[in-house]
Amino acid sequence: MTLWVDACGTDDIDEEDLIAWEHDGHAYAIYRTGKGFFVTDLMCTHEAESLEWGLVTDCVIECPLHGGRFDICTGKALSAPVSVDLGTYEAMVEGGRVFVRIDR
Ligand code: FES
Repeated sequence: MTLWVDACGTDDIDEEDLIAWEHDGHAYAIYRTGKGFFVTDLMCTHEAESLEWGLVTDCVIECPLHGGRFDICTGKALSAPVSVDLGTYEAMVEGGRVFVRIDR
């Protein structure tokens, strides 16, 4: 079953930034980039640090703990020490709200 869940307003996220969002016991990161809105898992795949305070540059998030980098659009791990990709989720904008696709 697919659900589109209303997560936040588009204005709740500054450009080149992210917010943490939790739904049904899972933590997500919702990003606003020059290419639009994207959603990944919130926790870094290296040592489960939250990416909430990480640095967003274009479409890359840098983990605040050890500097591992991920592609925000694809979740791909880009540089050591991270080697496992982040999970990604589809985002949709409608009426000034950001919806996240949740598959169960
Ligand atoms: S916890 Fe993210 S790079 Fe180590």
